[in-house]
Amino acid sequence: MNDVITIDGPSGAGKGTVARILAKRLGFRYLDTGALYRAVAWKAREENISMDDDESLRLLLQRMKISFDNERIFVDGRDISLEIRTAEIGELSSQVSAREVVRKGLYEIQRKICLEGKVVIEGRDTGTCIFPETSNKFFLDASLEERARRRFEELKHKHPNLTLEETIADLKKRDERDSSRTHSPLKRTDDMIYIDSTNMSIEEVVDTIIKNLKGIRLDPETP
Ligand code: DC
Repeated sequence: MNDVITIDGPSGAGKGTVARILAKRLGFRYLDTGALYRAVAWKAREENISMDDDESLRLLLQRMKISFDNERIFVDGRDISLEIRTAEIGELSSQVSAREVVRKGLYEIQRKICLEGKVVIEGRDTGTCIFPETSNKFFLDASLEERARRRFEELKHKHPNLTLEETIADLKKRDERDSSRTHSPLKRTDDMIYIDSTNMSIEEVVDTIIKNLKGIRLDPETP
């Protein structure tokens, strides 16, 4: 099963943008696994469930229905694609993603989509836990400052009081939590191709991934 491409890496490394363009160029689907954790955090907040209340989170995962339509995500039929893109949900999703009960619940959803093939899946544990059997694993990185700068550019219109320093501090905290948690921490393994995108354009990153793909027959039309 090589038609599953996994891209892992820290917040703000550009995984989402790269995965979306790559998927389009290959004619694959795109799965943003961070959106799944954000959806759980969003729903838990709606229901006043604390991000460390494992039993309530377990029951929540059993009853909530998550679905996708291209790049939109729905919870119980409601489109929450925009609502999950706030700094607050980013922080809550990082907390909730450290709970084993949440990772277990979301594992099945991600695994099923991968088994259908032809997908670019992006997150923190997609190459280590969700689909380790693919030969196409990538780790996308960039310096903390550059990732913070990109995140700041993205958020500054919606949050005019936000500063670059706060964004750096926030990313640093999330990096530490995502890499040090007990369950499926963000980890780079030897079989991943490492790409440092600090000084690269999005197109250069996408081209590097395409050049390194194994066992995927590219359509001659692929740009
Ligand atoms: O990529 P993002 O900022 O949308 O992800 C939101 C949070 O979810 C982030 O703090 C880490 C977590 N996450 C994870 O633990 N595993 C994944 N596969 C994807 C995201």
